[in-house]
Order: sequence, then C-alpha cells, then structure tokens
Amino acid sequence: MSKQWWKEAVVYQIYPRSFMDSNGDGVGDIKGIISKLDYLKLLGVDVVWLSPVYESPNDDNGYDISDYRRIMSEFGTMEDWELLRDEMHKRGIKIVMDLVVNHSSDEHAWFVESRKSKDNPYRDYYIWREGNDGREPNNWESVFSGSAWQYAEETGEYYLHLFSKKQPDLNWENPELRNEIYDMMNFWLENGIDGFRMDVINFISKAPGLPDAPNPEGKKYASGHEYFMNGPRIHEFLQEMNELVLDGKDVMTVGEMPGVSPDEAQLYTGEDRKELNMVFQFEHMDVDSGELGKWDLIPFDLKKLKKILTKWQTGLNGQGWNSLYWNNHDQPRVVSRFGNDGEHRVISAKLLGTLLHMMQGTPYIYQGEELGMTNVRFASIDEYKDIETLNMFKEKIAEGVDEREIMKSIYAKGRDNARTPMQWDSSEHAGFTEGTPWIAVNPNYQEINAEKAMEDPNSVFHYYRKLISTRKEHDIIPYGSFELLYEDDDSIYSYVRRYNGEALLVIGNVSNEGRTFIKPDHIQVNEDQKQLLISNYEVDERENVEQIELKPWEARVYKYSI
Ligand code: NOJ
Repeated sequence: MSKQWWKEAVVYQIYPRSFMDSNGDGVGDIKGIISKLDYLKLLGVDVVWLSPVYESPNDDNGYDISDYRRIMSEFGTMEDWELLRDEMHKRGIKIVMDLVVNHSSDEHAWFVESRKSKDNPYRDYYIWREGNDGREPNNWESVFSGSAWQYAEETGEYYLHLFSKKQPDLNWENPELRNEIYDMMNFWLENGIDGFRMDVINFISKAPGLPDAPNPEGKKYASGHEYFMNGPRIHEFLQEMNELVLDGKDVMTVGEMPGVSPDEAQLYTGEDRKELNMVFQFEHMDVDSGELGKWDLIPFDLKKLKKILTKWQTGLNGQGWNSLYWNNHDQPRVVSRFGNDGEHRVISAKLLGTLLHMMQGTPYIYQGEELGMTNVRFASIDEYKDIETLNMFKEKIAEGVDEREIMKSIYAKGRDNARTPMQWDSSEHAGFTEGTPWIAVNPNYQEINAEKAMEDPNSVFHYYRKLISTRKEHDIIPYGSFELLYEDDDSIYSYVRRYNGEALLVIGNVSNEGRTFIKPDHIQVNEDQKQLLISNYEVDERENVEQIELKPWEARVYKYSI
C-alpha cells in the first residue's frame, strides 16, 4: 500500500451556511470562516472540505448550483474566497471544494436553455423523456419524495430529477456536458484548490432505457436505485475525468457513494484504477434504519455496527481507501445517535471519536462534532428548514400518519440536526451571528460551545486535538491491518491494529454501565513495554491489560510491540 498525504490527513467539514456569520444577515459566510481559521489550526486539521459555496437559489442549501464558477452572494465574493484559500494555505490547511455534478439547479443557464425547445443546443445536457400514457416516463421516486420526473410545459416533456424538482439531473451520456464539467473542474484547480468531494458521484450513469423499478408493494413510486447507483458507464466516466482533469495533480478526491459495497469501492479507489482516492460509503449510517428507509427508526445495535465497519476495514485494506465519519451535514449528531447526549455526553463523544479515529481510512470531523454538539428538537415543523424533512412531513401528513410519529423520526434523523448554527460562545445565538440566524440555534449553547471547550482541558475539543496529533505520530493508525475482538459483545467495542512489528489495542465500552474487558489469549501484550496512547478517563499507565474494569463509555488505546 502506498503512503499518501491524504491517507494521513484529518479533514474538517464546514457547512458554510451554519458556520460563522460575519455581517449580521443570519447566514454564515466566507469572511466568517476566515475569522475562525485559527480555531481550526488549533484543532490541528489538515484539510477543510467546504460544502458548496457557489451561486445557488438554495432550494437544497447550495447543492443546487446555478453557476459553478461564481460564489453565492450570501456567502461573499470571489475575492473573499481567494482570501480564504490564501489564509488557509498560509496556515498549512488544504481546501477541498464540493463538486455537485449529478445535477445542477433548474436556474443554471444550461437548464434555462435546455427547457426552451427540443432542438436547443443545451437540450441534451439534461435527461428529457416523453410521458407514458399521461404519466411520468417511469415510476422512479425522488430521494426527496414524490416522482423523480417533472413535467415542463414548454416542450410537453418531463425531465429527470433524482433530488428536488429544482435539481435536474445532468446527462452524462453527452460528451459536451462532460467536457463542460471537466473545464469547470480545471478552472477550480487552476485557482489553487487541493481537491474535490464529489456529491453522489456514483449516480451519474443511468441504466439505458431508464426502466421502471420493481414495485412489489404497488406504491405510486418506487426506488430506482439499481438503475442509477454504480451504473453501467460509471467507471468509464470517472477514468475519463481522471485522465482529463486529475491525473498528475497532487489533489485529493472523495466520492460520495450511497449504496456502494467494499468490492465496488475497490474498483473506485484501487491504486491502479485511476479513478478516485477514497469513497464515502453509507452502510454504517443505515444501521438504525428499518426496511422503509431512514425515517423508519429501529434501535441501534452495536453488533451490527461492528460487523459493518469491520467489513469495510478488512475489505479495503491494501485494496483501496475509505473515509471514516460519524457525522456530516446530512446526518444526525453522533453523540445523540450512538452515544449518550445527557449525563455521559462528554465521555461518550470522546469514546466515539476514539473508536473511529483509530481505524484505517481518512477521518472527517463535521463542524461541532469536536464540541460534542447534539441533536435538536424544535417544537414545531415550522422551525425546520430542510427540503428533505419538509417534503417527507407533507407526504406523511397527507397519508394520514400521526404528526407525533413523524416528529419522532425528524428528531432522530432530520438533517437539520447537523445544520443548527455552530456554537461558538454563550452569547446570544451562540456567537454565530449578530442578526437572526436562518435556523434557530440549539438551546443548549450556553453549556456546549467552543469558548468553553477551549478553556476546559477535559473537553471533547482537546480530546479531538489529541486524537488528531496521535494519528500523526503513528503510521500504524492510517496503515495497520484490522482485527475485531469480541464481535458478539453488545457493549465492548475492541480491535487490534498491526503494522511493522507494532500493534494497537483499542478498547471501548459503548454503554452506560461498567463492563469488564478480558484480553483474549491470542493477544500477547508485553505489560512492561506497552504504552497508553490515549484514554478518556484518568488511567494508571502501568495497569495490567489482562482484565480491565471499564467505566461507562470508557475508551483506551495501547500500543505495544509484536
Ligand atoms: C448529497 C448531499 O450531501 C446532500 O446534502 C444533498 O441534498 C444531495 N446529495 C443532493 O445534492
């Protein structure tokens, strides 16, 4: 396995709308980000991934782009962005931009043209079809509820939108469109960026004929996943992109890929394949979802989580590269989800960070995770802003589902959990803005905020600093092999990493009660030589690891020679 800077890096994700507002309009912006770069430097991250900052009507908060080469005016100007890039580079932080090219906004000039007439030169930049007996061309469901097709009166045809109807899918079958995308990527690379995070990039190749999805339950619309996830030409497109844009440039690429398996991820990220550096997979994010999808809540099962993550750890070792994450702007806050956001908030946030950061892959920290920020429970649906949540709410109410049931799902899984403003201090609106924030601040900001965390040596923030610096000091963390211990235990999460004559023993107690860890016989630790790398409780380093009485949510990492 080759050594690469992006395998050793730790990435911090910024969702600009919710990070820091510099001008009092209630919306985070680029100058706000610049004002917080010293904070990120102190944390110790190497790369920042910026969620989209391009011109957008904000139907999906910037994931609907109307101009790929301009900065959204709410966020600032191109000069502001250039200053951000330079200030980041000055601090040794790299900048990775979001690339959203499965779809554009319906307000993008290409689409404005495309919808005008069937013979418009931009018509084939998008996916247009005739209706099927007065119905949509097929039965595919949009990720954001309802049909994935929208009728356009100008030409009497429908266009495909896997996400909102303001996010028409781009037609990657069209080489002209592909070249436009590559030109645009080169434009940003020439502007000095250090990589791309590629939004749902494994959706860009659709199955020929766009067949109806199987629909055994006879619902109005059905998921057409198998016809657009990892589609027939996906590897060809990514290899072409690599050849025409990425090859020979020392940049980092990460493909967001719902529904990808480790075998497929090997194809996307294998070193000889010239496609991408790493994937974002979602399997572990579905661990608490039932058969009906993310809103269908089922209890968290640690054994299931361990099984999934182990499959990825062993499946890609030496064959490809994965990202490690608990959080992003689409996911609920991990301390509320898999930890304990009440009495054990701080300690459980540290434990979860430890379990993830000691694995193989590139770790991503989502803004506020380093503070142990929690989910939010707004009293009324009117306070929610996310299009996915609002569409789902409307659909379920129309189906007659009890509102309290719907709210339960939103509290657990809604994307706005991640999008409440970053909690900087205990002043009004958590120091995020001097105006009225576009979405309300989590009421717990007086307790949970960056200022407090920086002052407290026992905070989640300082623990994350240590996780980051520890990774940098030990090659075994990015590069070692992985063996899970006690796969059937429903509270102990423990594993061993091995690399070049060294081993790491990671031990965690994922529960509110004390637990006993007994070291399996085949793990031979030289007690006199072992070193405690990090722990979330005070521990006597000389304590024997044969048998450990773990406190609630305790985490320890030992290094020893083998
Ligand atoms: C994935 C992004 O992470 C999400 O926020 C967005 O809504 C969809 N892709 C559509 O762009």
